[in-house]
Amino acid sequence: MTQVRFLKPGGELDREVEAAPGTNLLDLAQANGQPLEGSCEGSMACSTCHVIVASNDFERLPPASEEEDDLLDLAAHVTRTSRLACQLSVPAEGVLTVRMPGAAYNLDR
Ligand code: FES
Repeated sequence: MTQVRFLKPGGELDREVEAAPGTNLLDLAQANGQPLEGSCEGSMACSTCHVIVASNDFERLPPASEEEDDLLDLAAHVTRTSRLACQLSVPAEGVLTVRMPGAAYNLDR
C-alpha cells in the first residue's frame, strides 16, 4: 500500500489515506472528500481535476502527455508540478503528496 497525503491549498494536511498501487488519483481524491470536480470523468475534456504534486513525488511520476500539458494550460493556479489527477495512478510504494490548488475550494462556495 502507498500513503497518499492530501493537502489543503495553504499546505496544511487535510487527509492521509492508504491506497493500493494503481488506484486512480481522481477517484481516490473524490472518495476522500477532496474538492476536485473532475467534470469530464477522465476523458480529458476539462481541467477541474488539477492537483499540485510535491516536488520530490513529481519527479517519480511518469511524465504528462502532450494532451495533459495542453489541458493544464487552462487550469487556474498551475505550477511547475501541476498534474491532472484523472491521469495519475498511485505509485507502487512510498508516499504521494498532492495539494489542492487555491481555486479548488471555490467549487463549494
Ligand atoms: S477529470 Fe477532466 S481532465 Fe481530469
